[in-house]
Amino acid sequence: MPRTTHPTAGSALTGTGTLRLPSRIHFGFGVRDQLPLILAEHGTRVFAVVDPFLAGSPEFLRTVDRLRAAGLSVEVHTDVLPELPVDSLTASGTVAAAYSPDVILAYGGGSSLDAAKLIALLVAHGGPLSAYYGENNVPGPVLPIVAVPTTAGTGSEVTPVAVISDPDREMKIGISSHHLIPVAAVVDPELTMGAPASVTAYAGIDALVHALESYTAAELPLDWSATLPVFTGSNVFARQLALEAVRRIAPNLARAVADGSDREARAEVAYGSLLAGMSFGPTGTHLSHALQYPIGAITKTPHGLGTGLMIPYVLQACVPVIPEKLAAIDVALGGSSTDPWVAAQDAVDRVARLCRAIGIPVGLAEIGVAREDLPRIAELALLSKRLVDISPVGSEPSTILTILEAAHAGDRSLIAASAVRGRRPAGAARP
Ligand SMILES: NC(=O)c1ccc[n+]([C@@H]2O[C@H](COP(=O)([O-])OP(=O)(O)OC[C@H]3O[C@@H](n4cnc5c(N)ncnc54)[C@H](O)[C@@H]3O)[C@@H](O)[C@H]2O)c1
Ligand SMILES: [Fe+2]
Repeated sequence: MPRTTHPTAGSALTGTGTLRLPSRIHFGFGVRDQLPLILAEHGTRVFAVVDPFLAGSPEFLRTVDRLRAAGLSVEVHTDVLPELPVDSLTASGTVAAAYSPDVILAYGGGSSLDAAKLIALLVAHGGPLSAYYGENNVPGPVLPIVAVPTTAGTGSEVTPVAVISDPDREMKIGISSHHLIPVAAVVDPELTMGAPASVTAYAGIDALVHALESYTAAELPLDWSATLPVFTGSNVFARQLALEAVRRIAPNLARAVADGSDREARAEVAYGSLLAGMSFGPTGTHLSHALQYPIGAITKTPHGLGTGLMIPYVLQACVPVIPEKLAAIDVALGGSSTDPWVAAQDAVDRVARLCRAIGIPVGLAEIGVAREDLPRIAELALLSKRLVDISPVGSEPSTILTILEAAHAGDRSLIAASAVRGRRPAGAARP
């Protein structure tokens, strides 16, 4: 593929655009002081869904004092269990409904934000939650949610999805609807300062994966006269947001993990995570996420560990299929090669190095996945149709298995050596 110009230079605007976001997004140190004013716009009764660990933190107690001083009634609810079992959410929904809140304050990491979304759904429309599993099954607006993330991050403060676990299901299951998008997102990096290194690493790499998968998502054929899918594939707004997220997160994540008191690094990663959420909210994510669901179910490892472990292998499989997109990512990661094939491979290598630098395991064997589990993982990943549909590679089981075999061995060259088929763009030849 001969080229002389840089991959990002002078590209024509193609495609359509979709953004669905909170009507207010505030970012920066100190923006949490807006909370009393924002919440008061929605009424006087606040049901605060808070991470149980953070509920006792001076920062949260100060927030509650300020809300009460502003004349708001606040009920604090801390029953947020890891992995969000469906029964615990149903119980939380009953407690919330009895309080008759006007607005939900969601405060914590992705688990608390997702719990708050589902509690807002239960108060507005009742249960069971299983009635809403999947896409576009929420019948109408839910209680207004004001989301305040304390990790950077899942992006849940701006996205239309919440993920829970149900004992009747082998894997975690998502509820996706634009009605679940919070009305306001208040992203104050100060609140992430206390996050321990492993939480910072897993949440931060997941944010980078959101940006990378949003940018590399396929463009879906959309019927603009019908209800749109929640995840609409790559679009003209999301691409720019994703690249800026990569530019912010990649050079700063290892710094934030190594020294949690580094305010500049914390702010950069929190901003990048927010942009990544704004980007993947409308586009969706793809194969690393489809694979993380079964891998997380088998190994009980955190979401970001799984997506972070898989992303170098997924991107490696993308090299022959979307080299120009990977070359643009390479520029965002700090690469300078003008040969798109070299740049595409360099992007994957850079992502893999970053994962290693922050302690993400290199191979699936390291986290207890047996080789004989791989076919079942591939089968389950393919069930996440909404994710696989926007993946540039992996719609056929053989490619997913190749990716999994390489990830199990911790060896990306196994992918490079095999023929990966995907949605190859017209005119793109193999290197
Ligand atoms: N809705 C979405 O768009 C979306 C996207 C990605 C992931 N998720 C979900 O988010 C969850 C993961 O969220 P997460 O990575 O933010 O972790 P988390 O919310 O599960 O929290 C992890 C741990 O970090 C602690 N913690 C959080 N903030 C802290 C802080 N500032 N200081 C000290 N400790 C802190 C919590 O107490 C908890 O022990 C998963 O359930 C995943 O499925 C949702
Ligand atoms: Fe994620």
